[in-house]
Amino acid sequence: MKLRIAVLPGDGIGPEISEQGVAVMNAVCEKFGHTVTYEYAICGADAIDKVGDPFPEETFQTCMRADAVLFSAVGDPRFDNDPTAKVRPEQGLLAMRKRLGLYANVRPVETFDCLIHKSPLKDELVRGADFICIRELTGGMYFGEKYQDNDKAWDTNYYSRPEIERILRVGYDYARRRRHHLTVVDKANILASSRLWRQVAQEMAPQYPDVTTDFMYVDTASMRMIQEPRFFDVMVTENTFGDILTDEGSCITGSMGLLPSASTGEHTPVFEPVHGSWPQAKGQNIANPLAQILSVAMLFEYFNLENEGRLIREAVAASLDANVRTPEIQVQEGPHFGTKEVGAWIVDYICKA
Ligand code: IPM
Ligand code: MG
Repeated sequence: MKLRIAVLPGDGIGPEISEQGVAVMNAVCEKFGHTVTYEYAICGADAIDKVGDPFPEETFQTCMRADAVLFSAVGDPRFDNDPTAKVRPEQGLLAMRKRLGLYANVRPVETFDCLIHKSPLKDELVRGADFICIRELTGGMYFGEKYQDNDKAWDTNYYSRPEIERILRVGYDYARRRRHHLTVVDKANILASSRLWRQVAQEMAPQYPDVTTDFMYVDTASMRMIQEPRFFDVMVTENTFGDILTDEGSCITGSMGLLPSASTGEHTPVFEPVHGSWPQAKGQNIANPLAQILSVAMLFEYFNLENEGRLIREAVAASLDANVRTPEIQVQEGPHFGTKEVGAWIVDYICKA
């Protein structure tokens, strides 16, 4: 297969983990006989500094020309601490989502046995938890009509039927490929938008008789995720609820540095780590490249290249078993490995496989 990849390293630790993602991509393509070409583009604070726009038109065009985007991270404390900043790195992320029509954000919540002790939850609660959250990514309050003056402000949680139908379809498709259980998370006791979600889901459920559909209020879901995370298989929800629940999901496993994600929709799909740009660690060769590397696995799997994805997952598991780990998950008194060394070990594993 010929793959054309847009690489957006972004800010903070982004460029370092991006380098390892690309190295793994190269190794897998070589092994399986795929031709891959890369086009790099700027985004985030880096792009604000260079051209004053966190998602410049040229970057958009690069993404549109590609088969997939390998994205790393954006964000910079210079902007967080300046409430008067007119333009922020995060706006680049929102622009990318909207312009590429990335309405479905898939965030797996997966535990790795050797990292369970890092979870804030009790071992017996979290062990074996394995679900995915499908977050609607281009609608709701994030993009609805907004108003603000000195005395009042509002955001509109707008959802249309087609927007709800298409994200629920993604949810059902994933449920069919997994354990056939879909949980629709909403706040239908209070919000009109949620009631429409629930109505549409109830209408669609009979088309998927092999999938058990259940409904849960978002406050209950946030509780259930820490009380009984194994209850969930596929969870589908609106943009704002998904933002909050996926942060909760990423930390309950204890493996935040290992979680990849995919955003798909109308145009080029984007693959990126769930974690952010960790500016304090920039340039120190301590960032964990595994979430980025696993997003390369998701990229291959998106194109139905299952063996390629599996080999990457196997290499990652082997590196953890061999204690080839970055400092935040290193075993006590264990050997020291940096971002580059972990990446190189995985590349080597793939080449020798
Ligand atoms: C996320 C992030 C973004 C969001 C921010 C950085 C705009 O929190 O991807 O979850 O709120 O969607
Ligand atoms: Mg978030």
